[in-house]
Amino acid sequence: MLTFRRALIVAACFICMLYLVTRSHTSLPTDRIPPQDSLHNQKNNNNVDAQTTRTGHVPTTSSYDNRLPLKKPNAGSQQLLQDMSKASLRDKLAYQFPYDVEKKFPAYIWQTWKYTPASGEFGENFRPAEASWSEKHPGFIHEVITDQVAVHLLRHLYASVPEVLDAYQSLPLPVLKADFFRYLILLARGGIYSDIDTYALKSAAEWLPDNVPREAIGLVVGIEADPDREDWAMWYSRRIQFCQWTIQAKAGHPVLREIVANITEETLHKKKTGLLKNFKDNKVIEFTGPAVWTDTIFDFMNDERYFDMSTSKGNITWRDFTGMTAAKKVGDLVVLPITSFSPGVQQMGAEDYDHPMAFVKHEFEGTWKPENLRHIGATDEGKR
Ligand SMILES: *[C@@H]1O[C@H](CO)[C@@H](O)[C@H](O)[C@H]1NC(C)=O
Ligand SMILES: *[C@@H]1O[C@H](CO)[C@@H](O)[C@H](O)[C@H]1NC(C)=O
Repeated sequence: MLTFRRALIVAACFICMLYLVTRSHTSLPTDRIPPQDSLHNQKNNNNVDAQTTRTGHVPTTSSYDNRLPLKKPNAGSQQLLQDMSKASLRDKLAYQFPYDVEKKFPAYIWQTWKYTPASGEFGENFRPAEASWSEKHPGFIHEVITDQVAVHLLRHLYASVPEVLDAYQSLPLPVLKADFFRYLILLARGGIYSDIDTYALKSAAEWLPDNVPREAIGLVVGIEADPDREDWAMWYSRRIQFCQWTIQAKAGHPVLREIVANITEETLHKKKTGLLKNFKDNKVIEFTGPAVWTDTIFDFMNDERYFDMSTSKGNITWRDFTGMTAAKKVGDLVVLPITSFSPGVQQMGAEDYDHPMAFVKHEFEGTWKPENLRHIGATDEGKR
């Protein structure tokens, strides 16, 4: 009886894996040369600021940075790598998951949870949120990946980069794995990642303003916090914090590659030095959560491997995003205003759920109480 049930579960897992793997296999380029980050080859669309939406509700503002994407990349990954085993982690990831900005955004919705929606233990309170993604995205493949299935899926996707798997398996808390998983699945497959307690209010087809060409964008992020107050550092780890409960990306985006490499290296280093034991909840935000996510995004925007800085007026910082009410575009990256992914928080300029720019509704479960604010990301995932 027991063995039969187990066999059934294993078979179900296997079929699910097979389905994911085969459905999601995009055709590989025939010439397996290391990826050219297509953003380098982008047409000159740097100056187009995404300031209007189809709703017309947002103010139009002038251009905000004149940063040009590089025509020719000078990243180290450009030499033909004969022997990938000797390549750096970042080069291996770039080779394995080439980035092509001109491809369509993959029609996937990825979520993770302890249980599948088919399970009685899934949680009645998450069902409407989970269903909202399917309802708003007909034709998309929508997967809720359990922790057990995640291991198998990642083993397949990252077979040739074993240090990533080692890092994933070494992470001591489910919240760390959940954080890491979102970057891993988006780097490998692209699409939308969203937390299980997050509702889709609008289809992703409406997230980008009409005047932004989809074939020029590879990453869409929202703002989690923009605390315009003297004592912001008491409550937040960064003056502007990008959220990671909802992300849309094309596979191979350099920001995802960098954060996967960063977390992998940090994890393996901590493992070696014994720092993973007794890892504290309140460090999650810096290790895998919104702090490192925010830093990685800013580093990308200021990276001369991706942008021609010669015409730039200086580094892009939080000042470029504070108080913004319309989407902003930096190269192939779009940052949505706080209302889009954090509506209804009743502070920091966020509008309510019924605002035309409100795209997802994230359940904060009381994390907006000041004493919890610094740990958003940690407490937020404490539900797991
Ligand atoms: C990871 O990113 C953080 C930025 O938040 C940086 O301080 C750290 O040095 C990076 N680590 C690695 C190994 O790249
Ligand atoms: C600009 O940003 C880059 C990458 O984050 C950093 O290395 C550099 O020191 C910054 N420059 C200034 C002037 O802040």
